[in-house]
Amino acid sequence: MNNLNSAGTYQLGQRTVKRIGYGAMRLSGPGVFGPPADQAAAEHVLEQALALGVNHIDTSDFYGPHVTNKLIKSALAPYPDDLTIVTKVGARRGSDGAWLPAQSRAELHSAVEDNLRHLGLEVMDVVNLRIMLDVHHPVEGSIEEPLAALAELQQRGLIRHIGLSHVTATQVQQGRGICDIVCVQNQYNLAHRTDDALIDQLNQAGIAYVPFFPLGGFSPLQSSVLSEVAATLHANPMQVALAWLLQRSPNILLIPGTTSVAHLRDNMLAGSLVLDPDSIRKLNAIG
Ligand SMILES: NC(=O)c1ccc[n+]([C@@H]2O[C@H](COP(=O)([O-])OP(=O)(O)OC[C@H]3O[C@@H](n4cnc5c(N)ncnc54)[C@H](OP(=O)(O)O)[C@@H]3O)[C@@H](O)[C@H]2O)c1
Repeated sequence: MNNLNSAGTYQLGQRTVKRIGYGAMRLSGPGVFGPPADQAAAEHVLEQALALGVNHIDTSDFYGPHVTNKLIKSALAPYPDDLTIVTKVGARRGSDGAWLPAQSRAELHSAVEDNLRHLGLEVMDVVNLRIMLDVHHPVEGSIEEPLAALAELQQRGLIRHIGLSHVTATQVQQGRGICDIVCVQNQYNLAHRTDDALIDQLNQAGIAYVPFFPLGGFSPLQSSVLSEVAATLHANPMQVALAWLLQRSPNILLIPGTTSVAHLRDNMLAGSLVLDPDSIRKLNAIG
């Protein structure tokens, strides 16, 4: 069994995904805006991800914008049957790279069509609705209108499954009253634990939790405890941070981002790292 398979799989609706996937956001240019400096290198990372066994890629057409999806299509199409590409809609980029809300019915419908066109797909496996009531933090407020607009596209057969991103527990509950929700994508990692209770609730409900910034995102995780535990396990700190997420709950799916094939390989090894109870106790205390 390779390292990726040892982490196991999870069911996203009708799609089976390995628990370690890949987040493609970083493949576009600096600030997730514009093209990468080296397109061939970016495509090579995607090819290597699949060669290592990844079958779950997280993306959005607002990365670049359009850049990441076009890289995925150029590097990987025609796609293997078992590859699940998950996108998100609900934002657009300003001319200066700003992240702006795009939650109207018309904007959401054209965002799904743009994703399909740029990825070269006829149906999206999973579309996450990225709530933008506040760009930086999930805040309370109804998600009914934008979610109903996405559910229409599901009924028209353009989307297989719907997820939510950047949401509160109340919004997840509201969303589940509107359509089936297969995953929730919020910020969560060793040091950012706001969603602890939500993760457990989703696990009970059979809904995947997909933490974004699993390695700290734009402020990479740094902790002497993490480094010490990693040294004891002869692993690197990022592998330990990912292994901690895998053991945290069986519904957690990983989408670490990287532009480096060496880091990609390191991250895939997290699946075979066994954390002993003492290490878990020390790591839990970081949050
Ligand atoms: N729903 C949302 O609102 C939302 C928001 C943000 C992101 N996302 C999704 O979440 C995914 C993951 O987030 P992210 O990429 O921003 O953050 P992340 O996975 O927490 O961290 C990525 C950063 O860690 C570095 N890194 C990765 N592996 C490493 C390793 N083994 N050793 C050392 N450094 C390593 C990367 O640099 P290198 O390139 O040098 O490896 C990069 O700077 C994104 O790709 C995107 O798909 C969703």
